[in-house]
Amino acid sequence: MAILVTGGAGYIGSHTCLELLNSGYEIVVADNLSNSHIVSLRRLRELTGKPITFYNVDLLDRDSVEAIFLENNIDAVIHLAGYKAVGESVQMPLHYYHNNITGTLILCQVMQKFDVKRMVFSSSATVYTSVESGAISEDSPLGATNPYGRTKLMIEEMLRDLYVSDHDWSISLLRYFNPVGSHVSGRIGEDPGGIPNNLTPYITQVAVGKLKSLRVFGNDYPTPDGTGVRDYIHVVDLALGHLKAIEKAMSTTGVEAYNLGTGKGYSVLEMIRTFEQVSGRKIPYTIVDRRPGDIAVCYADPSKAIKELGWAAQRGIEEMCADAWRWQLHNPNGYEEMEQSSLV
Ligand code: WQD
Repeated sequence: MAILVTGGAGYIGSHTCLELLNSGYEIVVADNLSNSHIVSLRRLRELTGKPITFYNVDLLDRDSVEAIFLENNIDAVIHLAGYKAVGESVQMPLHYYHNNITGTLILCQVMQKFDVKRMVFSSSATVYTSVESGAISEDSPLGATNPYGRTKLMIEEMLRDLYVSDHDWSISLLRYFNPVGSHVSGRIGEDPGGIPNNLTPYITQVAVGKLKSLRVFGNDYPTPDGTGVRDYIHVVDLALGHLKAIEKAMSTTGVEAYNLGTGKGYSVLEMIRTFEQVSGRKIPYTIVDRRPGDIAVCYADPSKAIKELGWAAQRGIEEMCADAWRWQLHNPNGYEEMEQSSLV
C-alpha cells in the first residue's frame, strides 16, 4: 500500500514522510523542488533506512502525474504541494491560483482516472474570517482575506463538490494553525529561502547571527501584552495528525475539516522569552507598526480532531523552540550549504 505525498520534500512534507515511514507505510514523493530541497529526502533515508520513490514532478504536468499512478500502486494521497506565502500571493494572485488550484484539479482528475479516492488535503487556518477573540472551531465563519487563503478555501469547496458527485471519496481537510519546530534529530527542518516571513525562523536566524534584530509587528493589539497571539503547533504533532487522517481515510468516506492546533495561544513576546530561555541566546527586537493583514488573536479549538481522529498535540512551546533552535544551530544555512559540502 503506497501513499503518494505531494510536496513531500518540503518542511511539513518531510516531517509527514518521516512519520509515515516510521509507521511502516511505503511512500512515493512528488515534488517540483520549487520551495524544498532534495537533501531532505536523502536525510529521511538516513533517518529511517527505508527507500523513498521520488518524482521531480510539477502537478501542472498531467502526463508526469499520470506516470506516477501508472508506475506505482497508490492507495491514498496526502496533498501538500502548493505555494503558501501570504504576501507573495497578494503580489502574484494568478500565479497562486494557477499553481494551487489547477495543480489540485489535475491531481484529482488523475486520481479519479485511477480510481484512487482517498485524500488528506493541506488546508490552513487562513480559511477562517478573522475571529477577534476565542477559539476557532471548524464551524467558525469561513472567508479568506488573501489570495493564498482563497486558494485553500476554493480547493476545499472543489473537494466537497467532488464528494457530492461521488460518495466513494474519503477526504480530510486539515486546517493548520502555526507549524513550528523540527524533528528532534535536527536533520530536517524549515528552510525558508531568503528573509523569513514567519516568526520562528526569523527568531532562530537572529539567534544564530544571520539577522541582526527582530521586528515585532505591533504591540497595540487587544491582547495581554499587546502583541499578536497565535496557536503554534510542533511540526511533528502536525505530521502525526496526517497519519491519523490517513488511517481514517482508509476506513470511511465523506469530507471532514479538522483544526490542527494545540488550542493554546502564545504572544510574540512570550515566544521571544521562551526561545531565549531554551537557547540561552538574547533576541534583540524593536516594536514597529502592525503588519498589514495581521489579526490580533488566532488559536484553535481542536476538540473535533481529538474526538474523530483520536489525535491531540503533545509537544509544548519549550520543545518547539528547542527543536527549532537545534535545527538552526546544526544547519546555519539550511540544506543548501550541506548539499555543496556533501558533494565534496
Ligand atoms: C506570527 C506572529 C506576526 C514575523 C502565517 C500565514 C498562515 C500560515 C502560518 C500557511 C504574528 C508576528 C511575525 C516577524 C512578528 N501559513 N511576527 N515579526 O501570520 O500567523 O500565519 O503562517 O498556511 O497562512 O499567514 O504567522 O509567523 O508570520 O506571524 O512580529 O518578523 O508573529 O505579527 O503576530 P501568521 P507568522
